[in-house]
Amino acid sequence: MEFLDQLKNLKEQLKFESSFGSVRPFSNIIISGMGGSGIAGSIFSELYDRSPVTVVSDYNLPAYAGPDTLFIGISYSGNTEETLTATREAVRKGCQIRLITSGGELSELGEKTVIIPSGLQPRSALGYLLVPFLRSFMNFNESDYEETCRILSGLDAEHREARELAETIGREGSIPVIFGHYPYRWVAYRWKTQFNENSKILAFSNFFPELNHNDTVPLKSTYRKDAFRFISFGDASDRIEKRIEITSRITGTDFVRVHVNGKTLLQKLFYLIHYGDYVSYHLAKYRNIDPEEVSVISSLKDELMH
Ligand code: PA5
Repeated sequence: MEFLDQLKNLKEQLKFESSFGSVRPFSNIIISGMGGSGIAGSIFSELYDRSPVTVVSDYNLPAYAGPDTLFIGISYSGNTEETLTATREAVRKGCQIRLITSGGELSELGEKTVIIPSGLQPRSALGYLLVPFLRSFMNFNESDYEETCRILSGLDAEHREARELAETIGREGSIPVIFGHYPYRWVAYRWKTQFNENSKILAFSNFFPELNHNDTVPLKSTYRKDAFRFISFGDASDRIEKRIEITSRITGTDFVRVHVNGKTLLQKLFYLIHYGDYVSYHLAKYRNIDPEEVSVISSLKDELMH
């Protein structure tokens, strides 16, 4: 599938029916996943507040992992070293195991595995990777999913502002710095990683209010400030909106504010994710770069296997 069609596939992925099925009671959730797969766990961890959720983007599990833990391993390829190692440890420790993958070794490790379609880049499968979490643990209704698909279709058809933002960044040769806020802290990070992998540029993210205790200092006095393009999101609480306004004023920083379309959390979340997909895609196009190609990641994985 062409990369642009992979992006446009997101709305279809939201119709994916799978959930983790019934789960025994648990006292904590540990999610293991890297890169384009792990981000699904991180986004979920920001939304879910009925028990502690830890996202492990590394080899080892925290010491408290055990029979009371619901462990969820996510790897699109099913062959990611860190996720396989963490999953084997979860099995050894007697955690309740659920997995999401399109195949690979991971598909052989769990009691219950959600198998998702193969043939996409992991980062273009975010719908497939996130929907099992949402359908299992969040109460979004079907009409909400339908409206979200409709909003994503609208963005597929018309995303001029996203393209213009990409062209501004490309023309300037600037480094995007994305400042999110709850419940979009991990969406800001997703934008960063989409700039990294699709547009092949460095990008950074942080979130309000945390950044008022660190990044705000260099915002006022860093050198080469014009090397950065600062982006923040709309749909902020009054308190966060006030922080954004004061931060901008006292540090002399212009933020590109990205308006968040939609009425519900589900709609807004996917709108903002998809908007970022398009900015990163158009920046790749502006740079004459293939947005799909990430061979350096594969080369690194290959070398680690020998
Ligand atoms: O986008 C990518 O290709 C990477 O970030 C991968 O998602 C990451 O390397 C992990 O691989 P996988 O998603 O197959 O577990």
